[in-house]
Amino acid sequence: MFISFEGIDGSGKSTQARRCAALLSAQGKEVALTREPGGAPGAEEIRQLLLTGNPDRWSAETEILLFTAARRDHLEKTILPALEAGKVVLTDRFADSTRVYQGATRGDLRAHVDVLHSQMIDREPDLTLIFDMAPDQALARGLARKSGEDRFEDFGLGFQTKLRAGFLNLATEFPDRCVVIDATGTQDQVCKAAFAAIDARIS
Ligand code: TYD
Repeated sequence: MFISFEGIDGSGKSTQARRCAALLSAQGKEVALTREPGGAPGAEEIRQLLLTGNPDRWSAETEILLFTAARRDHLEKTILPALEAGKVVLTDRFADSTRVYQGATRGDLRAHVDVLHSQMIDREPDLTLIFDMAPDQALARGLARKSGEDRFEDFGLGFQTKLRAGFLNLATEFPDRCVVIDATGTQDQVCKAAFAAIDARIS
């Protein structure tokens, strides 16, 4: 079982990924919780290049190459070995982030994303949870964290608004694996909705 957590910056998906991992472990399941960009030593080095510095440091086209390189490393070194060992793999972001952040915000680059994905990754999650909330609320939360990894938050509200629409479009494009979770409630409410979706898919 391979599950991805997706959504705009500050939507709370990372917190929910941790909570769902803890709930699955409590049920006795072997869980691997991982993240993108990163999730393996080489991919974490690429993460630093992508998430720090000026927004105009990389073009969207260069980003597609870097995110896909990081994903390939993550898949080889972390995701596939964990799935082969029978673990439930939860990843904080996967290819849908590239489809939206690089494919649908700065011109229509989706065809480039799809070609690289099919050649180098060729794997989709069994379930994708899309955490949805108003972009102004999410952006305020994301920036308040001062993580030092704010390159994408620094593109501003117009960018986050396009991202939200992009994720909702993906949910329509891939209805078999995507579930939209309303991320505006309390942490407990959102966790309940997210875990219900996971439980339904597992059983
Ligand atoms: P993340 O660590 O999930 O940040 P946050 O917790 O703020 O959501 O992701 C880092 C950033 O990288 C985020 O702004 C989205 C961006 N990103 C892409 O642009 N493309 C991708 O393929 C991935 C995986 C992430």
